[in-house]
Amino acid sequence: RPVPVIAIDGPSASGKGTVAARVAEALGWHYLDSGSLYRLVALAGMRAGVALDDEARLAGIAAALPVSFEGGRIWLEGKDVTEDIRAEACSVGASKVAALPAVREALLDRQRDYRAAPGLVAEGRDIGSVVFPDAQLKVFLTASAEARAERRYKQLMEKGMAASMESLLRDLQERDARDAARPVAPLKQLPDAELLDTTQMDVKQAVSFVLERVPAVE
Ligand code: C5P
Repeated sequence: RPVPVIAIDGPSASGKGTVAARVAEALGWHYLDSGSLYRLVALAGMRAGVALDDEARLAGIAAALPVSFEGGRIWLEGKDVTEDIRAEACSVGASKVAALPAVREALLDRQRDYRAAPGLVAEGRDIGSVVFPDAQLKVFLTASAEARAERRYKQLMEKGMAASMESLLRDLQERDARDAARPVAPLKQLPDAELLDTTQMDVKQAVSFVLERVPAVE
């Protein structure tokens, strides 16, 4: 039998990262934050002075990404970039490099390598549509744009980073539009995905929603 996969896709700042990580922890399964890979390509590209529409060079960076996920931190060429890749510049950059087909292609095998026993919880935009179309459980996790901007705002405040609600909401909406409108692997709710709208939910409720549906896939 194939190793089970739970695919959690959804828009920016919907909380899918937190939910996916907690579900993985509760089940003792592996966890893949696919967005971090696009963020890493953007960061590595920007640091190397590569334009974020230079598809060939960015695909080269994606294919050879010198990244490691040791000790719960994210390392790029041996430097801890866990916080750097969360900066707004990297969010915007990630959604730009993610629109390039060669970059997506270069990251496919790396993502599929995460599928290992006893199971995988993977989150992103195209996990259920492209990376693991045969996932046993697909969830489309979303929330209103205002709720998402507010959550991101609180996160940044807690980290002592500067932010304005207005510009966060605008960036989110621009990024969502770019992710949904791109010709390759656009963000969309699949017909076989369960809709999980967390606008009025806390993390615990969202985690329970997913866990309740797991027995069916084991
Ligand atoms: O999920 P996160 O906000 O970290 O992702 C950053 C960007 O990476 C997204 O805006 C999207 O453009 C891209 N992405 C993607 N496919 C994925 C995960 C992320 O295109 N599976």
